[in-house]
Amino acid sequence: MACENSSPRPAFLLLLCFLLGTASARLSSTFYFTSCPSALHTIKSGVNSAVSSEARMGASLLRLHFHDCFVNGCDASILLDDTTNFTGEKTAGANDNSIRGYEVIDTIKSQLESSCPGVVSCADILAVAARDSVVALGGPSWRVLLGRRDSTTASLSAANSDIPAPTLSLSDLITAFSNKGFTAKEMVALSGSHTIGQARCTTFQTRLYNESDINSTFATSLKENCPSSGGDNNLSPLDTTSPTFFDNAYFKNLQTQKGLLHSDQQLFSGGSTDAQVNTYSSNSATFMTDFANAMVKMGNLSPLTGSSGQIRKNCRKLN
Ligand code: HEM
Ligand SMILES: *[C@@H]1O[C@H](CO)[C@@H](O)[C@H](O)[C@H]1NC(C)=O
Ligand SMILES: *[C@@H]1O[C@H](CO)[C@@H](O)[C@H](O)[C@H]1NC(C)=O
Ligand SMILES: *[C@@H]1O[C@H](CO)[C@@H](O)[C@H](O)[C@H]1NC(C)=O
Repeated sequence: MACENSSPRPAFLLLLCFLLGTASARLSSTFYFTSCPSALHTIKSGVNSAVSSEARMGASLLRLHFHDCFVNGCDASILLDDTTNFTGEKTAGANDNSIRGYEVIDTIKSQLESSCPGVVSCADILAVAARDSVVALGGPSWRVLLGRRDSTTASLSAANSDIPAPTLSLSDLITAFSNKGFTAKEMVALSGSHTIGQARCTTFQTRLYNESDINSTFATSLKENCPSSGGDNNLSPLDTTSPTFFDNAYFKNLQTQKGLLHSDQQLFSGGSTDAQVNTYSSNSATFMTDFANAMVKMGNLSPLTGSSGQIRKNCRKLN
């Protein structure tokens, strides 16, 4: 990359690099073309094999990238294990007993370490795995920008404060995403991720028993598996109609008050995002395009490039 090495450059190029020099501008879709030509294929095979054993894993891998990026950028900080002298992000409220897919990333990483030792970052594996997961479940594809490096730190406190909670109101959801540079429209598009995957009873129990904007037929069926107390880890699909298919059914569900989480139904509750939900519900192609664009933008959150960070050999620990 013209902007990345330190050999002498003509002044005009230095100026150009300066003008274009946001961190995300240094990511590139061809980053591993010569250094690890098999990288994308290896990641796709690992994802496809995991998703064919268990479709939900596609959802889990998509969420893993989100929870990485919202906490000080897409730097694989979420993958660092706690040790006696280090506390990472895995025990954050939104991650503990909830985030899945670490072993899938380990398997892919160990294959990449055999073929291209020390080359492919864990942060890039997460970004590509998220895209390949969406594709594996029938959703849109996009070109993943690459060249992120891995953090040497993690932040439990940022994980606890920056990952939005399912109890948030619409205005707090808009704020949480705006804090990361996203518009309300992009927040709605990204929430469409909940067209796949599962949630634990504990995350929607209060909505189920105490809120009125929930479809009564839907609520009755949910209560079978989510009692008013206990049953915390019992799972229900986020999209009641097609939980292993990346479609726009999530938005159709919101229109009939079948959002599982409080935060889901907030997007269609008489507020400013109702119109966007209606658009995505009636126009699947618009949702797919907006979702893919928002995923690229999410992947650009504060990547480590140049000489910062490292390429971890094991995603769970520092080199
Ligand atoms: C808008 C704010 C959001 C909130 C409040 C939220 C909250 C949640 C909660 C509470 C769960 C269930 C976790 C559990 O029970 O263990 C969940 C699951 C999930 N979330 Fe979100 N989420 C949000 C946005 C997103 C975004 C932006 C993405 C991806 C880009 C995403 C992807 C997922 C996926 C795929 C699952 C299912 C995971 C699985 O089955 O393993 N979510 N979310
Ligand atoms: C934790 O301690 C080990 C062994 O003393 C050391 O190698 C490692 O760098 C320390 N980790 C951190 C994050 O300080
Ligand atoms: C519903 O609300 C009542 C009163 O605020 C509270 O005591 C109860 O714990 C809530 N139930 C659930 C399941 O959240
Ligand atoms: C609740 O769901 C049923 C179908 O399952 C639907 O006919 C009804 O209109 C929904 N109610 C509301 C308030 O959207």
